[in-house]
Amino acid sequence: MFYNLIRRFLFSINEEKSHIYSLELLKLFYRFNLLKPFFIAQYPSTLMGLEIPNPIGLAAGLDKNGEYIDALASLGFGFIEIGTVTPRAQPGNPKPRLFRIPEKNAIINRMGFNNKGIDYMIERIKESHYKGVLGVNIGKNADTPIENAVEDYLTCLTKIYPYASYVVVNISSPNTKDLRDLQNKDNIEYLLSSLKSAQKDLEIQHQKYVPLLVKIAPDLTSEQIKDIAKVAINVSLDGIVCSNTTVDKSTIEDSPLAKESGGLSGAPLFDKSNEVLTALLKELDDSIPVIGVGGINSNKDALHKLRLGASAVQLYTGLIYQGPSLVTKCIKICNEPIIYN
Ligand SMILES: Cc1cc2nc3c(=O)[nH]c(=O)nc-3n(C[C@H](O)[C@H](O)[C@H](O)COP(=O)(O)O)c2cc1C
Repeated sequence: MFYNLIRRFLFSINEEKSHIYSLELLKLFYRFNLLKPFFIAQYPSTLMGLEIPNPIGLAAGLDKNGEYIDALASLGFGFIEIGTVTPRAQPGNPKPRLFRIPEKNAIINRMGFNNKGIDYMIERIKESHYKGVLGVNIGKNADTPIENAVEDYLTCLTKIYPYASYVVVNISSPNTKDLRDLQNKDNIEYLLSSLKSAQKDLEIQHQKYVPLLVKIAPDLTSEQIKDIAKVAINVSLDGIVCSNTTVDKSTIEDSPLAKESGGLSGAPLFDKSNEVLTALLKELDDSIPVIGVGGINSNKDALHKLRLGASAVQLYTGLIYQGPSLVTKCIKICNEPIIYN
Protein backbone atom coordinates (compact mmCIF):
# COMPACT_ATOMS: atom_id res chain seq x y z
CA MET A 1 0.00 0.00 0.00
CA PHE A 2 2.67 2.47 1.18
CA TYR A 3 5.02 1.30 -1.56
CA ASN A 4 2.22 1.72 -4.13
CA LEU A 5 2.08 5.43 -3.31
CA ILE A 6 5.84 5.84 -3.45
CA ARG A 7 5.96 3.78 -6.65
CA ARG A 8 3.40 6.04 -8.31
CA PHE A 9 5.71 9.00 -7.70
CA LEU A 10 8.91 7.16 -8.62
CA PHE A 11 7.43 5.79 -11.85
CA SER A 12 6.31 9.28 -12.87
CA ILE A 13 9.88 10.57 -13.14
CA ASN A 14 12.87 9.72 -15.28
CA GLU A 15 14.05 6.11 -14.75
CA GLU A 16 17.59 6.79 -13.69
CA LYS A 17 16.65 9.66 -11.37
CA SER A 18 13.96 7.49 -9.83
CA HIS A 19 16.55 4.77 -9.24
CA ILE A 20 18.80 7.19 -7.32
CA TYR A 21 15.88 8.77 -5.40
CA SER A 22 14.64 5.32 -4.29
CA LEU A 23 18.03 4.41 -2.91
CA GLU A 24 18.46 7.79 -1.21
CA LEU A 25 14.97 7.48 0.28
CA LEU A 26 15.83 4.02 1.53
CA LYS A 27 18.99 5.39 3.15
CA LEU A 28 16.97 8.15 4.82
CA PHE A 29 14.44 5.65 6.19
CA TYR A 30 17.32 3.52 7.44
CA ARG A 31 18.91 6.52 9.23
CA PHE A 32 15.63 7.23 11.02
CA ASN A 33 15.31 3.59 11.98
CA LEU A 34 12.14 3.09 9.95
CA LEU A 35 13.27 0.02 8.07
CA LYS A 36 13.63 -2.55 10.80
CA PRO A 37 11.57 -5.43 9.33
CA PHE A 38 9.05 -6.98 11.69
CA PHE A 39 10.37 -10.19 13.07
CA ILE A 40 10.37 -12.82 10.40
CA ALA A 41 11.34 -16.42 10.90
CA GLN A 42 14.72 -17.14 9.35
CA TYR A 43 15.82 -20.21 7.41
CA PRO A 44 19.58 -20.40 7.98
CA SER A 45 21.74 -22.40 5.64
CA THR A 46 25.26 -22.37 4.29
CA LEU A 47 26.22 -21.15 0.85
CA MET A 48 29.76 -22.02 -0.28
CA GLY A 49 30.67 -22.44 3.39
CA LEU A 50 29.22 -19.03 4.30
CA GLU A 51 26.41 -18.89 6.85
CA ILE A 52 23.33 -17.07 5.57
CA PRO A 53 20.15 -16.38 7.60
CA ASN A 54 17.97 -17.02 4.55
CA PRO A 55 18.57 -17.85 0.86
CA ILE A 56 17.08 -14.61 -0.56
CA GLY A 57 19.82 -12.27 -1.81
CA LEU A 58 20.13 -8.93 -3.55
CA ALA A 59 21.41 -9.20 -7.13
CA ALA A 60 24.29 -7.09 -8.47
CA GLY A 61 23.68 -3.77 -10.16
CA LEU A 62 21.34 -2.01 -7.73
CA ASP A 63 24.14 -0.79 -5.48
CA LYS A 64 27.05 -0.52 -7.90
CA ASN A 65 29.40 1.29 -5.49
CA GLY A 66 28.46 -0.15 -2.09
CA GLU A 67 26.86 3.14 -1.00
CA TYR A 68 23.64 1.64 0.35
CA ILE A 69 24.78 -1.61 1.98
CA ASP A 70 23.28 -1.01 5.47
CA ALA A 71 19.97 0.30 4.17
CA LEU A 72 19.56 -2.58 1.70
CA ALA A 73 20.56 -5.16 4.30
CA SER A 74 17.85 -3.87 6.64
CA LEU A 75 15.21 -5.04 4.14
CA GLY A 76 15.92 -8.57 5.36
CA PHE A 77 18.14 -10.01 2.60
CA GLY A 78 20.12 -13.11 3.55
CA PHE A 79 23.07 -11.79 1.55
CA ILE A 80 23.91 -8.73 -0.52
CA GLU A 81 25.84 -8.47 -3.77
CA ILE A 82 27.28 -5.09 -4.77
CA GLY A 83 28.92 -3.97 -8.04
CA THR A 84 29.68 -4.46 -10.84
CA VAL A 85 32.83 -2.56 -9.97
CA THR A 86 35.81 -2.02 -12.29
CA PRO A 87 39.42 -1.08 -11.43
CA ARG A 88 38.93 2.55 -12.45
CA ALA A 89 35.83 4.78 -12.24
CA GLN A 90 33.93 5.09 -15.52
CA PRO A 91 30.72 6.88 -16.61
CA GLY A 92 29.06 3.95 -18.41
CA ASN A 93 27.05 4.33 -21.61
CA PRO A 94 25.33 7.56 -22.72
CA LYS A 95 21.83 8.24 -21.33
CA PRO A 96 19.04 7.24 -21.72
CA ARG A 97 20.16 3.73 -20.82
CA LEU A 98 17.44 2.45 -18.48
CA PHE A 99 13.87 1.69 -19.64
CA ARG A 100 10.90 0.47 -17.60
CA ILE A 101 8.23 -1.74 -19.19
CA PRO A 102 5.61 -1.82 -16.39
CA GLU A 103 3.02 -3.83 -18.31
CA LYS A 104 5.57 -6.69 -18.49
CA ASN A 105 7.17 -6.16 -15.05
CA ALA A 106 10.41 -5.77 -16.98
CA ILE A 107 13.38 -3.47 -17.47
CA ILE A 108 15.82 -2.99 -20.33
CA ASN A 109 19.18 -1.55 -19.34
CA ARG A 110 22.41 -0.74 -21.10
CA MET A 111 24.13 0.99 -18.18
CA GLY A 112 27.60 -0.27 -19.17
CA PHE A 113 29.23 -0.67 -15.72
CA ASN A 114 28.85 2.95 -14.59
CA ASN A 115 30.73 2.97 -11.27
CA LYS A 116 33.17 4.93 -9.12
CA GLY A 117 35.96 2.36 -9.15
CA ILE A 118 37.22 -0.28 -6.74
CA ASP A 119 39.06 2.06 -4.33
CA TYR A 120 35.91 4.13 -3.77
CA MET A 121 33.90 0.94 -3.12
CA ILE A 122 36.43 -0.28 -0.54
CA GLU A 123 36.01 2.96 1.43
CA ARG A 124 32.21 2.51 1.41
CA ILE A 125 32.53 -1.07 2.65
CA LYS A 126 34.79 0.09 5.47
CA GLU A 127 32.16 2.65 6.51
CA SER A 128 29.28 0.17 6.54
CA HIS A 129 28.11 -1.63 9.70
CA TYR A 130 26.84 -4.73 7.88
CA LYS A 131 28.22 -7.98 9.28
CA GLY A 132 26.43 -10.38 6.95
CA VAL A 133 27.52 -12.02 3.69
CA LEU A 134 28.67 -9.39 1.21
CA GLY A 135 29.37 -10.47 -2.37
CA VAL A 136 31.29 -8.20 -4.71
CA ASN A 137 30.71 -8.43 -8.46
CA ILE A 138 33.75 -7.44 -10.53
CA GLY A 139 34.19 -6.43 -14.17
CA LYS A 140 36.58 -4.88 -16.66
CA ASN A 141 36.83 -1.25 -17.71
CA ALA A 142 35.30 -0.41 -21.09
CA ASP A 143 38.64 0.86 -22.45
CA THR A 144 40.61 -2.23 -21.42
CA PRO A 145 41.11 -4.38 -24.55
CA ILE A 146 39.35 -7.71 -24.18
CA GLU A 147 42.73 -9.55 -24.54
CA ASN A 148 43.85 -7.82 -21.30
CA ALA A 149 40.59 -8.36 -19.40
CA VAL A 150 42.23 -10.81 -16.98
CA GLU A 151 44.40 -7.96 -15.63
CA ASP A 152 41.33 -5.95 -14.65
CA TYR A 153 39.71 -8.93 -12.92
CA LEU A 154 42.97 -9.70 -11.08
CA THR A 155 43.25 -6.08 -9.93
CA CYS A 156 39.71 -6.10 -8.57
CA LEU A 157 40.05 -9.51 -6.93
CA THR A 158 43.32 -8.58 -5.23
CA LYS A 159 42.05 -5.25 -3.90
CA ILE A 160 38.62 -6.44 -2.76
CA TYR A 161 39.72 -9.80 -1.31
CA PRO A 162 40.05 -8.68 2.35
CA TYR A 163 36.63 -6.97 2.29
CA ALA A 164 34.39 -9.42 0.42
CA SER A 165 32.62 -12.58 1.59
CA TYR A 166 32.60 -13.83 -2.01
CA VAL A 167 33.60 -12.44 -5.41
CA VAL A 168 31.65 -12.83 -8.66
CA VAL A 169 33.41 -12.59 -12.02
CA ASN A 170 30.94 -10.90 -14.34
CA ILE A 171 31.53 -11.95 -17.94
CA SER A 172 27.89 -11.85 -18.96
CA SER A 173 26.85 -8.21 -19.19
CA PRO A 174 25.59 -7.53 -22.74
CA ASN A 175 26.54 -3.85 -22.37
CA THR A 176 30.34 -3.99 -22.47
CA LYS A 177 31.75 -4.69 -25.93
CA ASP A 178 32.94 -8.31 -26.43
CA LEU A 179 32.57 -9.12 -22.70
CA ARG A 180 30.40 -12.16 -23.36
CA ASP A 181 33.19 -13.65 -25.54
CA LEU A 182 34.95 -14.39 -22.25
CA GLN A 183 32.36 -17.15 -21.76
CA ASN A 184 33.86 -19.12 -24.65
CA LYS A 185 35.72 -22.26 -23.58
CA ASP A 186 39.36 -21.22 -24.00
CA ASN A 187 38.79 -17.70 -22.70
CA ILE A 188 36.88 -18.75 -19.59
CA GLU A 189 39.39 -21.50 -18.83
CA TYR A 190 42.29 -19.05 -18.95
CA LEU A 191 40.44 -16.37 -16.99
CA LEU A 192 39.13 -18.61 -14.22
CA SER A 193 42.34 -20.59 -13.76
CA SER A 194 44.30 -17.32 -13.46
CA LEU A 195 41.86 -16.03 -10.86
CA LYS A 196 41.77 -19.32 -8.94
CA SER A 197 45.54 -19.29 -8.77
CA ALA A 198 45.48 -15.69 -7.44
CA GLN A 199 42.82 -16.75 -4.92
CA LYS A 200 45.25 -19.38 -3.54
CA ASP A 201 47.94 -16.75 -2.89
CA LEU A 202 45.42 -14.30 -1.45
CA GLU A 203 44.09 -16.96 0.91
CA ILE A 204 47.55 -17.42 2.39
CA GLN A 205 48.21 -13.69 2.51
CA HIS A 206 44.93 -12.80 4.25
CA GLN A 207 44.33 -16.07 6.14
CA LYS A 208 40.81 -16.11 4.76
CA TYR A 209 39.09 -18.10 2.00
CA VAL A 210 36.88 -16.00 -0.26
CA PRO A 211 34.77 -18.09 -2.65
CA LEU A 212 35.03 -17.22 -6.35
CA LEU A 213 32.02 -17.42 -8.66
CA VAL A 214 31.23 -16.62 -12.27
CA LYS A 215 28.03 -14.97 -13.51
CA ILE A 216 26.70 -16.29 -16.80
CA ALA A 217 24.28 -15.12 -19.47
CA PRO A 218 20.91 -16.74 -20.17
CA ASP A 219 21.66 -16.63 -23.90
CA LEU A 220 24.16 -19.52 -23.96
CA THR A 221 23.90 -22.53 -26.25
CA SER A 222 23.73 -25.97 -24.62
CA GLU A 223 27.29 -26.58 -25.87
CA GLN A 224 28.48 -23.44 -24.08
CA ILE A 225 26.68 -24.45 -20.88
CA LYS A 226 28.44 -27.84 -21.00
CA ASP A 227 31.83 -26.18 -21.57
CA ILE A 228 31.34 -23.71 -18.72
CA ALA A 229 30.27 -26.48 -16.34
CA LYS A 230 33.32 -28.55 -17.30
CA VAL A 231 35.70 -25.64 -16.79
CA ALA A 232 34.03 -24.72 -13.50
CA ILE A 233 34.51 -28.27 -12.21
CA ASN A 234 38.11 -28.50 -13.51
CA VAL A 235 39.23 -25.29 -11.83
CA SER A 236 37.22 -26.03 -8.64
CA LEU A 237 35.13 -22.91 -8.95
CA ASP A 238 33.11 -22.19 -5.79
CA GLY A 239 29.82 -21.20 -7.40
CA ILE A 240 27.92 -19.90 -10.42
CA VAL A 241 25.36 -17.08 -10.60
CA CYS A 242 22.70 -17.86 -13.20
CA SER A 243 21.79 -15.55 -14.84
CA ASN A 244 22.39 -12.04 -16.07
CA THR A 245 19.94 -10.17 -18.36
CA THR A 246 18.99 -11.47 -21.82
CA VAL A 247 19.45 -9.89 -25.25
CA ASP A 248 16.48 -11.90 -26.51
CA LYS A 249 13.50 -9.52 -26.73
CA SER A 250 11.07 -12.01 -28.33
CA THR A 251 8.99 -12.14 -25.12
CA ILE A 252 8.26 -8.40 -25.33
CA GLU A 253 8.11 -7.92 -29.09
CA ASP A 254 4.72 -6.18 -28.86
CA SER A 255 6.28 -3.45 -26.70
CA PRO A 256 7.55 -0.25 -28.38
CA LEU A 257 10.66 -0.50 -26.20
CA ALA A 258 11.59 -3.94 -27.56
CA LYS A 259 13.90 -2.30 -30.09
CA GLU A 260 16.04 -0.69 -27.37
CA SER A 261 19.43 -2.36 -27.15
CA GLY A 262 20.57 -3.71 -23.80
CA GLY A 263 19.70 -6.52 -21.41
CA LEU A 264 16.13 -7.47 -20.55
CA SER A 265 15.34 -8.38 -16.94
CA GLY A 266 12.22 -9.12 -14.93
CA ALA A 267 9.27 -11.43 -15.54
CA PRO A 268 9.99 -12.10 -19.26
CA LEU A 269 13.39 -13.51 -18.25
CA PHE A 270 12.00 -16.04 -15.78
CA ASP A 271 11.55 -19.06 -18.09
CA LYS A 272 14.75 -18.50 -20.03
CA SER A 273 16.91 -18.16 -16.92
CA ASN A 274 15.26 -21.27 -15.48
CA GLU A 275 16.07 -23.27 -18.62
CA VAL A 276 19.75 -22.36 -18.33
CA LEU A 277 19.66 -23.04 -14.58
CA THR A 278 18.22 -26.51 -15.15
CA ALA A 279 20.71 -27.37 -17.91
CA LEU A 280 23.62 -26.10 -15.83
CA LEU A 281 22.59 -28.01 -12.69
CA LYS A 282 22.36 -31.18 -14.75
CA GLU A 283 25.93 -30.72 -16.02
CA LEU A 284 27.27 -29.82 -12.58
CA ASP A 285 25.58 -32.80 -10.93
CA ASP A 286 25.58 -31.14 -7.48
CA SER A 287 29.32 -30.47 -7.54
CA ILE A 288 29.04 -26.66 -7.44
CA PRO A 289 26.31 -24.48 -5.90
CA VAL A 290 24.32 -22.22 -8.19
CA ILE A 291 22.62 -18.94 -7.23
CA GLY A 292 19.43 -18.58 -9.28
CA VAL A 293 18.48 -15.11 -10.52
CA GLY A 294 16.22 -13.82 -13.24
CA GLY A 295 12.56 -12.83 -13.27
CA ILE A 296 11.60 -13.44 -9.65
CA ASN A 297 8.47 -11.34 -9.23
CA SER A 298 6.71 -13.25 -6.44
CA ASN A 299 7.51 -15.61 -3.58
CA LYS A 300 6.32 -18.53 -5.74
CA ASP A 301 8.94 -17.63 -8.36
CA ALA A 302 11.64 -17.73 -5.69
CA LEU A 303 10.44 -21.10 -4.47
CA HIS A 304 10.37 -22.39 -8.05
CA LYS A 305 14.07 -21.62 -8.54
CA LEU A 306 14.93 -23.22 -5.19
CA ARG A 307 12.95 -26.29 -6.18
CA LEU A 308 14.82 -26.48 -9.48
CA GLY A 309 17.94 -26.86 -7.33
CA ALA A 310 19.34 -23.35 -6.85
CA SER A 311 21.16 -23.10 -3.52
CA ALA A 312 19.97 -19.50 -3.09
CA VAL A 313 18.25 -16.86 -5.22
CA GLN A 314 18.64 -13.15 -5.92
CA LEU A 315 16.21 -10.34 -6.72
CA TYR A 316 16.48 -7.12 -8.68
CA THR A 317 13.69 -6.12 -11.10
CA GLY A 318 10.97 -7.72 -8.92
CA LEU A 319 12.05 -5.40 -6.13
CA ILE A 320 11.43 -2.36 -8.33
CA TYR A 321 7.91 -3.50 -9.25
CA GLN A 322 6.78 -5.20 -6.03
CA GLY A 323 8.69 -3.13 -3.50
CA PRO A 324 10.74 -4.18 -0.48
CA SER A 325 7.96 -6.42 0.88
CA LEU A 326 8.93 -8.94 -1.83
CA VAL A 327 12.00 -9.80 0.27
CA THR A 328 10.03 -10.76 3.39
CA LYS A 329 7.40 -12.54 1.29
CA CYS A 330 10.14 -14.64 -0.34
CA ILE A 331 11.76 -15.41 3.02
CA LYS A 332 8.43 -16.60 4.46
CA ILE A 333 7.91 -19.09 1.66
CA CYS A 334 11.24 -20.75 2.47
CA ASN A 335 9.43 -22.92 5.02
CA GLU A 336 7.65 -24.66 2.13
CA PRO A 337 9.22 -28.04 1.48
CA ILE A 338 11.85 -27.99 -1.26
CA ILE A 339 10.92 -31.01 -3.35
CA TYR A 340 13.62 -31.67 -5.89
CA ASN A 341 12.59 -32.92 -9.31
C1 LIG B 1 19.40 -1.63 -14.15
C2 LIG B 1 20.15 -2.93 -13.98
C3 LIG B 1 21.52 -2.92 -13.77
C4 LIG B 1 22.21 -4.11 -13.62
N1 LIG B 1 23.56 -4.08 -13.39
C5 LIG B 1 24.23 -5.23 -13.19
C6 LIG B 1 25.61 -5.21 -12.90
O1 LIG B 1 26.23 -4.15 -12.78
N2 LIG B 1 26.24 -6.41 -12.74
C7 LIG B 1 25.58 -7.60 -12.83
O2 LIG B 1 26.20 -8.65 -12.67
N3 LIG B 1 24.27 -7.64 -13.10
C8 LIG B 1 23.59 -6.50 -13.27
N4 LIG B 1 22.26 -6.53 -13.53
C9 LIG B 1 21.59 -7.86 -13.68
C10 LIG B 1 20.94 -8.33 -12.38
O3 LIG B 1 21.87 -8.54 -11.37
C11 LIG B 1 20.20 -9.66 -12.64
O4 LIG B 1 21.13 -10.65 -12.98
C12 LIG B 1 19.18 -9.55 -13.76
O5 LIG B 1 18.53 -8.30 -13.74
C13 LIG B 1 18.12 -10.66 -13.69
O6 LIG B 1 17.42 -10.61 -12.47
P1 LIG B 1 15.98 -9.88 -12.32
O7 LIG B 1 15.12 -10.36 -13.43
O8 LIG B 1 15.52 -10.26 -10.95
O9 LIG B 1 16.26 -8.41 -12.42
C14 LIG B 1 21.53 -5.36 -13.69
C15 LIG B 1 20.14 -5.36 -13.89
C16 LIG B 1 19.44 -4.18 -14.03
C17 LIG B 1 17.96 -4.21 -14.23
